[in-house]
Amino acid sequence: MRRLWILLFTVMGLSFAVLGWLGLRIRQGAPPVPARVVTATGERVFEDGDIAAGQNVWQSMGGMELGSIWGHGSYVAPDWTADWLHREATTLLDAWALAERGAPLAALDPATRAGYQERLRLHMRQNRYQPATGTLVVDAERARAIQATAAHLDDVFSRGRDAYAIPAGAQPDPVLRRQLAAFVFWTAWAATTERPGERITYTNNWPYEPLVGNTLTGDAWIWTGVSILLLLAGIGAMAWWHAARHAHGEEAPVAAPATDPLLRAVPTPSQRATVKYFWAVTALILVQVLMGVVTAHYGVEGNGFYGVPLARWLPYVLTRTWHTQLGVLWIATAWLAAGLYIGPAVGGREPAGQALGVNLLFGAVLVLVAGSMAGQWLSVMHRLGTGTAWFYLGHSGYEYIDTGRLWQVVLLVGLFLWLFLVARAVRPAFATADAATRPLLGMFLLASLAIAGFYGAALGYGRHTNLAVAEYWRWWVVHLWVEGFFEVFATVVIAFLFTRLGLLRTESASRAVLLSSAIFLSGGIIGTAHHLYFSGTPAAVMALGATFSALEVVPLMFVGFEAWENLRLGRAAAWVAQYRWPIYCFVAVAFWNMVGAGLFGFMINPPVALYYMQGLNTTPVHGHAALFGVYGMLGIGLMLFCLRALRPGQPWREGPLRFAFWAINGGLMAMIVLSILPLGLLQTRAAVEHGYWFARSAAFLQSDGMNLIRWLRVPGDTLFAAGAFVLVYFIAALPRARA
Ligand code: HEM
Ligand SMILES: [Fe+2]
Repeated sequence: MRRLWILLFTVMGLSFAVLGWLGLRIRQGAPPVPARVVTATGERVFEDGDIAAGQNVWQSMGGMELGSIWGHGSYVAPDWTADWLHREATTLLDAWALAERGAPLAALDPATRAGYQERLRLHMRQNRYQPATGTLVVDAERARAIQATAAHLDDVFSRGRDAYAIPAGAQPDPVLRRQLAAFVFWTAWAATTERPGERITYTNNWPYEPLVGNTLTGDAWIWTGVSILLLLAGIGAMAWWHAARHAHGEEAPVAAPATDPLLRAVPTPSQRATVKYFWAVTALILVQVLMGVVTAHYGVEGNGFYGVPLARWLPYVLTRTWHTQLGVLWIATAWLAAGLYIGPAVGGREPAGQALGVNLLFGAVLVLVAGSMAGQWLSVMHRLGTGTAWFYLGHSGYEYIDTGRLWQVVLLVGLFLWLFLVARAVRPAFATADAATRPLLGMFLLASLAIAGFYGAALGYGRHTNLAVAEYWRWWVVHLWVEGFFEVFATVVIAFLFTRLGLLRTESASRAVLLSSAIFLSGGIIGTAHHLYFSGTPAAVMALGATFSALEVVPLMFVGFEAWENLRLGRAAAWVAQYRWPIYCFVAVAFWNMVGAGLFGFMINPPVALYYMQGLNTTPVHGHAALFGVYGMLGIGLMLFCLRALRPGQPWREGPLRFAFWAINGGLMAMIVLSILPLGLLQTRAAVEHGYWFARSAAFLQSDGMNLIRWLRVPGDTLFAAGAFVLVYFIAALPRARA
């Protein structure tokens, strides 16, 4: 066991050293933000500070929820980077052709066209930034192309666009629209300008745009090959390891206890206080599903909801922000409650004031949910003035950590309060537990500490942080949570509950948890870089990100062992049937870990794939299947387990639960297979054939065929929503069943 601890801490120490080093490289190599953009004759294209100010304008309006930048964000509106790049490039080409040949480019013969394109490529890729003065100099024709593109953006954000789900007046202030345009220009400039002394752009040639010579780099090819080989090698090694373990003889299964060991346990006051968390969970699920329905509908009806002009009060930006944020919040709430429930169960007694702490934390959760949502509404609807209030109270603009700084701090404090409550409840157990149980407890606390602590990385960016660096910190939170310590938490908690039920040996559970955590984190920590291939980072990020994240997939290909084992445990004794639905949820966790995280994650993971697929519908395929499939199902499973254990022996109506379970899982699968996966694959083909901008363009997305496939979301979504409603109904009806 000691060896396993050493392994785990070595893996974490080395991996974080590498990740930290990558952070330094990213900061040094971030695309510079010009203080001003001028023409050779000194005319101002963008005023002093416009680009930096524009980043804040973009953030306060909802940032990544408004469409995407460098491929990160929402999918209905264009990727603004690719869109700007294509518009500026074609405008410039036509301007040259008109001035010199008297006809637009399309009217010229192919050889002449090719000549202009080569000129464009050389022109756009050249780095004309002057670091000494912070000035970017462009020639007069390019300046006109920039102004024309800015005028287009101005039109979109003043008059609105149904096809982009952007309402009229999305940014009413013309000065702010100008700054917004300056920022979008900068992201496109970074995407097409070569790094000093190199032949690739600041974004490693992303997005794919043949007009300006943005094509796959050699690095992208090499590291794609390496990552696939490593994955296969890892699977081979893991198969060997399983075979060797098998050869040494399986451990004899534990003889299940004759009756439910939790039957005589009397819930403590603090444990009973967790029940209201589960009501909050169900309420948040309902709102999340509702927001999802509205968001998906905006994808086809722009700014209306079956004719109601809903976007006037609740535009797409907000429904999507809340949809993703509430998902994280209800999952977190379910886990918080499970941790609070488990604490005293392990510790054996109730520390003084524990129930008070649990109630206080619940209050904090409510304040956080209400406060952050109100702040986001005010920010997006321009009610927070032009100062810095948006930053502290409003919308951060960064997807998955969308809240204002104050709410981020509230969440962080809440997570540490939770950690404190769990730790003090578990503490007595350390003194009494045997040597086999202690590692399990230790890992439980370590995962809880990491979940609380890594949210702190959200505070790593400030108001003026370069987007490339802000992205680095954002993924510290999102990736290190979901692909690092959430996985650890899931493994520990599930193992832990089975040992409580007397169905697993603590010794082997401890060993398995330590080992699988070490394996997971050895790919997962450095794997963070797979989100940063194209966000203004040097090529080392791509190399390390692609190789290490491929290793994450190896253990996911073997979760079948775990799923099968869980199913077997579910049948170990007659009384275990009581826990059937929580256990099925844990089996679903394993299933979606393989399909949603492993398969769909790897589908988009190699640099060559993500180069074309970043921000296409292939991303929500993976996002839904992994985030809801794995952690949503875990949240529901934990909720059901705790509610079950809080009232052992209480009869449960299985019908609604059975329906909810299958409808939710089946609905998720149907939504993916019938709609968003085909959409994503067709978009991928379009991106490869015509350039990335085209796959995200209204012209392509609003075609009849694509609209039909989008409508095919309805059956899956409806089934899913029905399952969620029935689940909520089941939970709501539970207290009455006791009476
Ligand atoms: C249960 C574990 C996982 C969860 C919950 C999860 C969740 C997510 C979420 C929510 C996103 C963002 C989607 C969006 O922008 O809308 C994402 C992106 C991504 N994930 Fe995962 N993920 C998991 C595991 C993995 C694994 C194992 C891999 C591959 C090794 C992977 C590769 C990626 C990549 C490459 C992206 C970026 C896609 C893009 O920006 O277009 N994920 N993931
Ligand atoms: Fe990731």
